[in-house]
Amino acid sequence: MFDSETRTLVVVGAQWGDEGKGKLVDVLAERADWVVRYQGGANAGHTVDLGTTCFILQQIPSGILHSGVRCAIGNGVVLDPETLFTEIDRLVKSGIDVEGRLYVSDRAHLVLPYHKLVDAESSASRAIGTTGRGIGPAYEDKVARRGVRVLDLRHPRHLHEVVSRGVDHANALLAHFGSARRAAVDDTVAALEAIAPRLLALADDVGLSVHQAIESGATVLMEGAQGSLLDVDHGTYPFVTSSNTTSGGAATGAGIAPTAIDAVLGVVKAYTTRVGNGPLPTEFAEPLATRMRDLGHEYGAVTGRPRRCGWFDAVVVRYAARVNGLSGLAVTKLDVLDTLDRVAICTGYQVAGGVHTEFPGDLVALEDTAPQYEWFEGWQRSTADARRVDDLPPAARRYLDRIEELIEAPIRFVSVGTRRDQIIELAGAARV
Ligand code: IMP
Repeated sequence: MFDSETRTLVVVGAQWGDEGKGKLVDVLAERADWVVRYQGGANAGHTVDLGTTCFILQQIPSGILHSGVRCAIGNGVVLDPETLFTEIDRLVKSGIDVEGRLYVSDRAHLVLPYHKLVDAESSASRAIGTTGRGIGPAYEDKVARRGVRVLDLRHPRHLHEVVSRGVDHANALLAHFGSARRAAVDDTVAALEAIAPRLLALADDVGLSVHQAIESGATVLMEGAQGSLLDVDHGTYPFVTSSNTTSGGAATGAGIAPTAIDAVLGVVKAYTTRVGNGPLPTEFAEPLATRMRDLGHEYGAVTGRPRRCGWFDAVVVRYAARVNGLSGLAVTKLDVLDTLDRVAICTGYQVAGGVHTEFPGDLVALEDTAPQYEWFEGWQRSTADARRVDDLPPAARRYLDRIEELIEAPIRFVSVGTRRDQIIELAGAARV
């Protein structure tokens, strides 16, 4: 994956999240010196199955499971300190050494209990189906310039003033929602003071450290969270998250220059899922919806919510390939399709008088379209033990070939199960 031409690689989800980025990052992290998370927060749930233990990482980059890899949480992340400490404690308990190799950007904004309260009490959050982790309210405060950053904990006197702005606004919102719940400045400050030493021990100028690592020839993996269609600018707005999940966000969110990025790997499921509300053009009807959800264990890693499932949508992934500048694809969960007698790929959206092959920004217009499918015979054989492309049934290879052709990006990895070893690395994978 990493070679003289690819030292800085971004891994993004090219659908609506949950594509299996955690597993890919885990596989690639073995070859990286640094792994950096650049956006989102504890709304993410990156699952890594080591065979004997299964880790769900929310904020700490999946690279932490490889000793010797340095992991950083960039300025673009909204950091929930409570969840961070729980994650660290869990890792340490499982024998993973975190000490001295986890860094948190001192510019990162904090998700505080009042952000979660606002997320929970807001009808707008409910309409979107947010994870309830306070992500949207924390990003709103950041943009409105009333956020609390990690570095504010260094200045106790100033902290009270910064927190007051956030709490006052949260309380005004809660009153507006008709909620009786309120946040208190003193309690919030006291809780922050209590965690300050532990958090500040991890604080770092992450942009500078990553820049210096790149300059010294280190290999850097940038781990995206959620998926491209949940990007606040490029996703199915307003049914999106509050950050730039696409590769452009990697530069701003890690604090490095866009020119420092050498390649972008897009992770896609062999079908499509989405959790929360909003359009999903290829969504299955029953009974396939329930069958696929069960076959793919499609329940949210963080919230446990059932995921909506549909056929692979090449219009969506082609769009993601363009917006992210994908240099290669990793197709995950191919094995979930093993028992189907036929499978489909959506190649366009039918509208009166034609077919659209570009994903529209206008969701009202999207409602008046119907997916156009290409059908393929199923392979009806287990792919779980395939380790080379030649081990895959011919029908599965034809399905993957068509995906590659439609997306116009080479498939570099095919994942055929949850375990680390259940992956096929295709020729040329060294050069995403
Ligand atoms: P928020 O990020 O909690 O504000 O939620 C906004 C939207 O993004 C909702 O539809 C969530 O279900 C979705 N979302 C957020 N994080 C993830 C994720 O990690 N995987 C899939 N969907 C997500």
